[in-house]
Amino acid sequence: MAKVKRIGVLTSGGDAPGMNAAIRAVTRTAVYNHLEVIGICQGYQGMIDANFKPLLSQSVSDIIQRGGTILKTARCEEFRTQEGRLKAYNNLKEAQIDGVVVIGGDGSFTGARLFNEEFDIPFVGIPGTIDNDIYGTDYTIGYDTALNTVVEAVDKIRDTASAHNRMFFVEVMGAEAGFIALYSGIATGAEAIIIPEIKEEARSIKSLIKAGNIRKKSSNIIIVAEGDKGGGAFAIAEQVKDDFKEFDVRVSVLGHLQRGGSPSAIDRVNASRLGHAAVEALLDDQKSVMVGIMNGEITLVPFRRAVKLHKDVNHNLVELARILSV
Ligand code: F6P
Repeated sequence: MAKVKRIGVLTSGGDAPGMNAAIRAVTRTAVYNHLEVIGICQGYQGMIDANFKPLLSQSVSDIIQRGGTILKTARCEEFRTQEGRLKAYNNLKEAQIDGVVVIGGDGSFTGARLFNEEFDIPFVGIPGTIDNDIYGTDYTIGYDTALNTVVEAVDKIRDTASAHNRMFFVEVMGAEAGFIALYSGIATGAEAIIIPEIKEEARSIKSLIKAGNIRKKSSNIIIVAEGDKGGGAFAIAEQVKDDFKEFDVRVSVLGHLQRGGSPSAIDRVNASRLGHAAVEALLDDQKSVMVGIMNGEITLVPFRRAVKLHKDVNHNLVELARILSV
């Protein structure tokens, strides 16, 4: 018989489209299992400030299609400290919350792991970040929507680039990971893709673009992941532009528009599955684990592994992008 009777749910770190679908799934699965649900507002900060509100089935009506998060989110410095986590624990105890679902990225799971080493209230994580950079899951909530947003934007940039014979450096999100850049680059036929996982010298970028230009392309799109060590799209454009005098060079930084918008069908379905699985995990007395999706199946991954191990991009796809772009 599971000990958990009242669970908390929060969203933490950068928001991602589909977080609301996950909150809905957590709430409704809990209600189905006769558990009470408390929404913890503004991530871990809300845990420290006891910013709690009860969630009922109807509290999560009409949100599955909405971007952002109804619980708000934050990056919380105080939760990194032992004092902050102790305050959070006391508030959870006071509110009789005996299990917590954390929807967020690896920073959020680092906090959750530390908390579970110190205190007896189990935390279960759901991967929610547009970056898709969490080890132990093929998929993170928001990635699919963000990718489609980027593809739509780059297609539009391609129209104007071709019309003007221009070379565009398009910077996309991915603080430490190139998933959005690599997949959007393949999907839009980018001439080059620059990601932190592959050390790319300015020389090899130039040769990639030159190879394509032998057949007189009317535009060039170079996708740059913001986390690339080369210094972002402006810096890279500066390094290569003198070699391509025939092109007018422009830089476009897509920025936070990648984080908003109505979640895709994939994000809604996967967030629903993960929200359900997280509550099931708490009912099964799991703690300090993340629920993920690998090869289409739900998996459980210890926070320790999810946080410590690095998820790499598929290097065959890097090669594919090179072959197809010329
Ligand atoms: O972690 C998701 C993410 O969107 C990163 O890709 C990006 O670097 C970061 O968040 C931006 O964070 P903020 O909104 O705090 O500037």
